Amino acid sequence: MKPASTDDIRQAFLDFFESKGHTIIPGAPLVPENDPTVLFTTAGMHPLVPYLLGEPHPGGKRIADCQKCIRTQDIDEVGDESHLTMFEMLGNWSLGDYFKEEAIKMSFEFLTEVLEIPKEKLAITCFRGDNDAPKDEEAAEFWMGVGIPEERIGFLPKEDNWWGPAGQTGPCGPDTEMFVWMNEDDPKGNPETHPYGWMEVWNDVFMQYNKQPRSSGNRDDNRSQQQSHNRDSEIAASGEAGDEMKFVPLKQKNVDTGMGLERVAAVMQECGNVYETDCLQSIMDRVKSLADAEGLKHQRIITDHIKAAAFIIADGILPSNVDQGYVLRRLIRRAIRSGRYLKIEHDGTFTPTIADEVIKQYSSVYGNLKEKEKEIRDALSGEELQFGKTLKEGMKQFEKAVEKASTEIDGVTAFHLYDTYGFPLELTKELAGEEGLKVDEKGFKQSFEEHQKLSRAGAEQRFSGGLADQSSETTKLHTATHLLNAALRKVLGDHVYQKGSNITADRLRFDFSHPEKMTKEQIAEVEKLVNEAIEADLPIKYHVTDVEGAKKEGAIGVFDERYGNEVKVYVIGKNDCDKDNAECAVGAQRAVPVQSPFSIEICGGPHVASTSMIGKFKIKKEESSSSGVRRIKAVVEGGTENIEIAEEDK
Ligand code: ALA
Repeated sequence: MKPASTDDIRQAFLDFFESKGHTIIPGAPLVPENDPTVLFTTAGMHPLVPYLLGEPHPGGKRIADCQKCIRTQDIDEVGDESHLTMFEMLGNWSLGDYFKEEAIKMSFEFLTEVLEIPKEKLAITCFRGDNDAPKDEEAAEFWMGVGIPEERIGFLPKEDNWWGPAGQTGPCGPDTEMFVWMNEDDPKGNPETHPYGWMEVWNDVFMQYNKQPRSSGNRDDNRSQQQSHNRDSEIAASGEAGDEMKFVPLKQKNVDTGMGLERVAAVMQECGNVYETDCLQSIMDRVKSLADAEGLKHQRIITDHIKAAAFIIADGILPSNVDQGYVLRRLIRRAIRSGRYLKIEHDGTFTPTIADEVIKQYSSVYGNLKEKEKEIRDALSGEELQFGKTLKEGMKQFEKAVEKASTEIDGVTAFHLYDTYGFPLELTKELAGEEGLKVDEKGFKQSFEEHQKLSRAGAEQRFSGGLADQSSETTKLHTATHLLNAALRKVLGDHVYQKGSNITADRLRFDFSHPEKMTKEQIAEVEKLVNEAIEADLPIKYHVTDVEGAKKEGAIGVFDERYGNEVKVYVIGKNDCDKDNAECAVGAQRAVPVQSPFSIEICGGPHVASTSMIGKFKIKKEESSSSGVRRIKAVVEGGTENIEIAEEDK
């Protein structure tokens, strides 16, 4: 029987790709690890960037998963038929294994044989070709080979049929998109000739090019190239190469696919929009049961936003004024405001009740929702009570501002609403829009900067994003982080665990459990140990094992659901020491004796091949991060410019 429920479709997809030799990996958390350039995971490929750039994946060359994604640029669109803040992306990847023909055949088989969508209802688009890359006749041929008639195949330009690179450089390529006819009447043409009536459900990207600066020679290993910062919203956008850039064929040709689970559910359940699919409908019903007024858009906003908020909180974020916490706050406050429109009785709080339904619908697949039930309810009710207190007063102030305004709300007032009444700028903009007014955003920013000494990750960076930076600098800092982690445990004790890590090209930031401020001596000792390990020029290798095996070896790492069964374990310093001899042969042969192995840690990589490439390590700051958690900021200087990457220990 064909799958229809959201849960059955998700499972059918994973089962299908498993039967085609793919390793099923768990989706990553919503907040990317070690990637400060973007707030949230935005696509299934996002956590896989190192592997698309050539780093071997422990699961092999065929991978599939279901990835929860958040696209913050869609928040303001929420309320229409198809936009969601958080959605699930089903994806399969070939990391240098199969390419166009097999990817297309598998997509077609899944659509027509597992989902049983009649092939007459399918249409395809392929890349039209331009100065950078030729028309993708090849993909079209393969589609015709499986039985799609020519009239159902359209060719569109880069804006539609090209994906990536994630930043300004990196792997990218033409894509082919699959559409389903959603109208009652007979299908017409294809999305090129008849743009209406077709709904996109799946995108197969053929990552066969590396977009790189013209000056950088013909290297096609992108691993050490700087990925530039980029907004979330621009991730999928890519223009012509232009004078500065060129597209060079990649050696490792990858396939990256993404299928919108909620959209496919809408197709299978024959409803016109994602909010009427099984999981979301039940959340909507809960909203309606509390509401005293009609308002489809507001029902959808609450459904979407509280669902996303619950998932974000479950992944460890709390409402705040910076970064992910700010997005979370915006979502909750926008939902609360919609609650007022719907006249939801709120003698207590209503958002936790909606979250109960989210948890009920999704915790069989996302177990951490149930585990974090209390945190989710507490964070929502805390935010709702806090915002509830000022919302009424704030609205009065807003109305006064509207009376005063001719075309726009001035920046100082917008800031006052933000600072005193907790109105996120976007909320003021939305309210102003409803009155036909604009907001002086520049003025807001000026006031913001004058009045608030926010963390460095302030307004600018909050709205910027890109994908993991794989430059030499971040790779060195990443390896230095492992040395730091190990050194902290040696100096402070085994209670030290990584609580967070954030690496830019300039510095590392490492949060770890430790109850008190470190002494000057402890800081100096940690710095010394790390530098000794660097000077000892320890080799770095990884091997693939299962989580149990990694634990037995004494590997450290975050052992939770984010790891699939197979993991990569990075060992710094040789693993073949005589266990009774603390000062192992490896270190002893060098100028400085260093205990070896120095560090064993579960990690995706990449890392440098030997510690001397890192350069000098310096701790810049040790401070409190939160209760029981300390934070170290550190830099490295003067390491190797053209690093080598750590390889598998065979
Ligand atoms: N990465 C591609 C997308 O997000 C599959 O559409």
